[in-house]
Amino acid sequence: MYTGLLHLHSALRYIVLILLIAAIVQAFAGWFGNKTFTASDKKLALFTLISVHIQLLIGIILYFISPVVQSALADMGAAMRDTQLRFWAVEHIATNIIAIALITIGYSSAKRAYQDKAKFTRIALFYLIGFVLIMSAIPWPFNRVARGWF
Ligand code: HEM
Repeated sequence: MYTGLLHLHSALRYIVLILLIAAIVQAFAGWFGNKTFTASDKKLALFTLISVHIQLLIGIILYFISPVVQSALADMGAAMRDTQLRFWAVEHIATNIIAIALITIGYSSAKRAYQDKAKFTRIALFYLIGFVLIMSAIPWPFNRVARGWF
């Protein structure tokens, strides 16, 4: 189960990133092009929100079954001095939870906004900050905490 979920979580990152980029580009285009906020704009923002929430759910399960996280939690004092263990026990989860919270706030505040421009602005800015945070917390193969591309 652990290996299967880890692969799923790893592959899902690309769907999350593609959806985020599409939603951000569409929101900026709507904002600066003074466009009408359509059902397709809402659908893209919603699918993006759902994809990050699925990633959050898988991540929470992984957090409780991951041998790496468990060994970190067994001795947090030592884990905080270890780059790899600190990343998995604290940095990856904290950064991603903040990112997903901001994306959720962006979606729900856009939903409550009356003007189309305000809807686009909120999605564009909140999703963009979320995207930057998620990118920074992915263990890319070239990072100090490196994992594979898939
Ligand atoms: C959109 C947000 C997220 C992205 C893009 C993401 C991406 C990744 C990637 C690429 C890996 C490495 C997979 C591999 O080694 O093959 C990973 C592992 C992991 N992630 Fe996430 N993650 C996200 C959110 C979260 C959240 C919110 C949590 C916790 C609540 C979490 C917990 C974990 C854990 C525990 C591991 C496995 C550590 C291990 O056992 O090696 N992730 N994540």
